[in-house]
Amino acid sequence: MATTDKDVETSGFLGWIDRRFPLTSTWKAHVSEYYAPKNFNFWYFFGSLALLVLVIQIVTGIFLVMNYKPDATLAFASVEYIMREVPWGWLIRYMHSTGASMFFVVVYLHMFRGLMYGSYRKPRELVWIFGCAIFLCLMAEAFFGYLLPWGQMSFWGAQVIVNLFSAIPFIGPDLSLWIRGDYVVSDVTLNRFFAFHVVAIPLVLIGLVVAHLVALHEVGSNNPDGIEIKAKKDEKGIPLDGIPFHPYYSVHDFMGVCVFLFIFAAIVFFAPEMGGYFLEANNFVPANPLQTPNEIAPVWYFTAFYAMLRATTDPFKIVLMVIIALLGVLALLRGRGKWRFGLPVLALLVIVFMALTESKFWGVVVMGTAVVSLFFLPWLDRSPVKSIRYRPLFHKVFYGVFVFAFFVLGYLGTKPPSPASTLIAQICALIYFGFFLGMPFWTTRGRFKQPPDRVQFKPH
Ligand code: HEM
Repeated sequence: MATTDKDVETSGFLGWIDRRFPLTSTWKAHVSEYYAPKNFNFWYFFGSLALLVLVIQIVTGIFLVMNYKPDATLAFASVEYIMREVPWGWLIRYMHSTGASMFFVVVYLHMFRGLMYGSYRKPRELVWIFGCAIFLCLMAEAFFGYLLPWGQMSFWGAQVIVNLFSAIPFIGPDLSLWIRGDYVVSDVTLNRFFAFHVVAIPLVLIGLVVAHLVALHEVGSNNPDGIEIKAKKDEKGIPLDGIPFHPYYSVHDFMGVCVFLFIFAAIVFFAPEMGGYFLEANNFVPANPLQTPNEIAPVWYFTAFYAMLRATTDPFKIVLMVIIALLGVLALLRGRGKWRFGLPVLALLVIVFMALTESKFWGVVVMGTAVVSLFFLPWLDRSPVKSIRYRPLFHKVFYGVFVFAFFVLGYLGTKPPSPASTLIAQICALIYFGFFLGMPFWTTRGRFKQPPDRVQFKPH
C-alpha cells in the first residue's frame, strides 16, 4: 500500500521524499531511534573504525586506479609514477598501503571484542557469520592487491601461495594453473588479480558489511556485560538500558575517529613502511621471475596462519593423525547414537587419507581450518554466560593463552624457520586448535558469576 500524506510525520521537501522513499523511517530505525546499550566501552570503537577504513580504502583505491597500469611491463613503473609525479600521489598510495594494515589491526581488535563478550552467541550468530565471511574477503582482497605493485615480494608471494593449491590431491596442479592462467605468475595473473581486487571482492565486501549491520540491527547490540537489554523495556517499548545511537554514540564514535586519524596520519607521514611490516623492502625491487628473494614472508596480518602452514611437517602430520585416532577412540567409548560408530569410521578414513597424501597439502588444510573454525564459534561455546566478566578465572587464562599463541605464531611467521621455531609454532598451532576443539567441554566447567539484571554503567 502506498504511503499517504497522513502516514508520514515530516512535511515540506523531506515529507515529499518520505512519501516516495523511506528516508526518515530508515534514519530513525538505524540511527536516531536505534537503542544501543549504554555501557559500551573502548572495545566498541572498532566497528565504526572498520567502516571508516573501508571508506578510506575505497576512495584512495579509486584515485590509485586513475594512474595505475595493470600490465606486467608497466605496473611497477606506474606505482613509482604515482609516488613521484602524480600530485599528492605519494599520500594516496601511503594512505592505501597503511589502510590495508590498519584494516586488519581494527578488524582483529573488533573480533577480539566479540570473543571477550560472547557477541557471537544467540541471537547474534548471523552477525558473527557475516563477520567471518568479511574476514575471508578481506584476506582475499589483501592477497590480490599485494600482487599489483609487481615488486619482488608481490611476485614471489603470489607464486608461493598459488603453488600451495598444487598440493591438493588429483586436481591441485590443474587448479593452480587455472588460478594463475599461466605456468608461472604472469601478466595474465596480474590482470585477473586486478579485476578481483578492484571490482569483484569490494562488491562482495560491501554487500557483506551491509548484511552484517542489518543482522546486528535486527537483534540489537550486545554489550560488555553480555546481557540482553531488550529483556527490560519501558511502557513505550524502549529498552531501559538503551540510549539512541544518535547523538550519544555518533559523538562517541566521532571521538574514536579523531584519535584513530591521529595515529593513522602519524604512520602515513612518519613511518609508512613501519619497519618493513606494512611495506617490505623487497617490494621496492621490480618483480624478477629469474631471481628468488632470500626470504619470502607474507605481510604481518597473514603470518600467524602462514606459520601454521609451515609448521605442518611430516612429524607434525603424524601427531595430527594420533590426535584424530584418539578422538575416534573417545567417540567410540563415550559417543551416543549414530555418532558412536560414525565418528570412528570417519577418523579412520581421514587417517588413511592423511597417510597417502603429502604434508604440504595438510599444511594448506590446517591453514584453511584455522580460519574456518571461527565460523563455528557460536555453537562451540556452551558457557551459561556470554561475557568474560562473569566466567571462571581459568576461562580468562585460556583466552589469554589462545591470544598469546596467536601472537607467537604471528611473530614466527615473519622469521625464517629453524628447528626450534618450528617446534614452538607446532605447539602454538595445537593450542589454537585445542582452544576451539575443547570449547564444548571447558566452556561449561567452573564456577560462573551471576550476571547482573541491568547493565553496569558509571556515568562519565
Ligand atoms: C569490514 C569489516 C567490518 C565492519 C565495517 C564491521 C562493522 C561493524 C559495526 C559498525 C558494528 C557495530 C558497532 C560495534 O559493535 O563495534 C559491528 C558489530 C559486530 N561485528 Fe563487525 N564489522 C566488520 C568485521 C567483522 C568481523 C571480521 C567480525 C567477526 C568475525 C565481526 C563481528 C561483529 C560482531 C559479533 C558484532 C556485534 C558486537 C556486539 O554487539 O557486541 N565484524 N561490526
